Amino acid sequence: MKVGIFGTGLMGQPMALRLFSAQIPVIAYNRTPSKLKALQQQGIEITTNPSEAIMAADCLILILTNTPAIEDVIFSDESFSLLENRSVIQMGTISPDESRLIGDRVVSLGGEYLEAPVLGSIPQAKAGELLVMVGSTEKQFQKWLPLLQNFGSKPRLIGEVGAAAALKLALNQLIASLTSAFALSLGFVQNQGVDVEQFMEILRESALYAPTFDKKVKRMCENNYANPNFPSKHLLKDINLFLNQAKTNGLNITSLEGVSQVVVQAIEMGFADDDYSSLYSAITSKR
Ligand SMILES: NC(=O)c1ccc[n+]([C@@H]2O[C@H](COP(=O)([O-])OP(=O)(O)OC[C@H]3O[C@@H](n4cnc5c(N)ncnc54)[C@H](OP(=O)(O)O)[C@@H]3O)[C@@H](O)[C@H]2O)c1
Repeated sequence: MKVGIFGTGLMGQPMALRLFSAQIPVIAYNRTPSKLKALQQQGIEITTNPSEAIMAADCLILILTNTPAIEDVIFSDESFSLLENRSVIQMGTISPDESRLIGDRVVSLGGEYLEAPVLGSIPQAKAGELLVMVGSTEKQFQKWLPLLQNFGSKPRLIGEVGAAAALKLALNQLIASLTSAFALSLGFVQNQGVDVEQFMEILRESALYAPTFDKKVKRMCENNYANPNFPSKHLLKDINLFLNQAKTNGLNITSLEGVSQVVVQAIEMGFADDDYSSLYSAITSKR
């Protein structure tokens, strides 16, 4: 069996390498040739032509930005007729409704579809320590478990297609809300002349603490958002996916709408491709 990795961005590259080092035959597709170079140097087969990758692979792992990217890659005029007998495993962050629609389309074209979004970032992708959430049937889950274990030791079956996508969005909503809440308190103590280390010490001993605070505090204090694992533009994408889905469920989304405005401001300040902790600069920039 050959696996196609579609998208060799921040996450796709280490994921392709995980499979390759487990001696699984891999073909990697990306539309930008430079993003394939490192993989080619390791000996991985590469292509900038999605149809070529679909024809060569039995299983297509999608780790692309969003739904329009997925549509461009697997549903183009050249690609869609090749999906018969292919298994599509969608691992990017998209909404439950989008995932169900893509799944229905793949199945109507004679293929198989499951979703397997992940929590964790580049370090976890390199180490095979991603938290893999699967939306599929029990049978599909058992069939694809050995492959998915290359990305994380304990993939979990969450429910049908859509359920894992929903859980992933719920977790990314927490990334946005926790980080912006922390950034606001950090900005406040700094403005008030309180020692940051004292703030952190008490926070660490309290029930309010989350490990992500320590991961981000240095970047925030130094306004250093370079070399991101997860860029601001993707956090905004996920916030919008959550907002749209939660709105249709009738949830009160005003708190997250506020966070969204902060992330939009960070992007307007030029931090779209930088780490999402740049929202700290949007919170602390003088008005
Ligand atoms: N980074 C993380 O920590 C993280 C963690 C969990 C989940 N995710 C999710 O996983 C997915 C990928 O994330 P990433 O961080 O790897 O993003 P990324 O570095 O921005 O990579 C996105 C990939 O999608 C490709 N792409 C975008 N639009 C396309 C189009 N129209 N046609 C063909 N290819 C297209 C890009 O190709 P080019 O290189 O040519 O632009 C690139 O290969 C996203 O849904 C993200 O939210 C990310």
